Amino acid sequence: MEEIKMNTIYDNEKFFNKYSQMTRSQKGLAGAGEWHTLQKLLPDFTDKTVLDLGCGYGWHCLYAAEHGAKAVTGVDLSEKMLAVAKEKTAGYPVNYLQADIATLTFPVATFDVVLSSLAIHYVADFKRLILNIKQYLKTDGILVFSVEHPAFTAEGSQDFYYDEKGNILHYPLDNYFNEGIREANFLGEKVTKYHRTLTTYLNTLLKNDFTLLNVVEPTPATELLALPEMKEELRRPMMLIIKAKNNL
Ligand SMILES: C[S@@+](CC[C@H](N)C(=O)[O-])C[C@H]1O[C@@H](n2cnc3c(N)ncnc32)[C@H](O)[C@@H]1O
Repeated sequence: MEEIKMNTIYDNEKFFNKYSQMTRSQKGLAGAGEWHTLQKLLPDFTDKTVLDLGCGYGWHCLYAAEHGAKAVTGVDLSEKMLAVAKEKTAGYPVNYLQADIATLTFPVATFDVVLSSLAIHYVADFKRLILNIKQYLKTDGILVFSVEHPAFTAEGSQDFYYDEKGNILHYPLDNYFNEGIREANFLGEKVTKYHRTLTTYLNTLLKNDFTLLNVVEPTPATELLALPEMKEELRRPMMLIIKAKNNL
């Protein structure tokens, strides 16, 4: 049996504490810059079976359950993230699994909707993930996911270039066509992520019989742009949101 790697930066005490201070951790979906865009792309959850890959604190699981989903499964590697998620959704039809979304499988046609918010850039093999999703997502089922934008992940450091006074000069774009592992600086810690081109994201779906329903590069909601962590986010595309339908 394949060994599941359960160690994750999200279970590192220092990283977890910093992550828990972020606006999206404190305020939930209302504090997430992309939520106003993602929300519009979500399907009707009434009586649906829903899977959230990399569910973190479970905000999207809670939203699906509050909007009529009959059963929601949240999957995450991190014990600490799942502990918070379980508290938030107590009393709702939400179950959690501690597992690696890269290798996880379910019986064929288990889910009507598969969601993933900002977790898939932690997965090395996107094609394998999509082939797995294709198995457990029903025909005509909906996949909606956000990832860090390829222009954001390409160079690797995920930081601006600054002048000697500390003013931002620009955001670097480099090594765009060199897909693979990156060691990014996220919340002051070294975090392993994976870069892929826009073509890889879109064509992997198209070649595996998904129909693209929406592709969006979200910008933060106007009321969030003043926050220190978002005030520079009109300079670079930070996220990519894709909505697709499983045809077979
Ligand atoms: C940036 S957080 C996003 C959490 C949540 N989806 C949200 O939008 O608020 C990324 C989450 O993905 C989880 N994660 C990263 N790699 C994973 C993997 N291979 N399998 C399962 N979960 C993973 C992390 O533990 C973390 O909770």
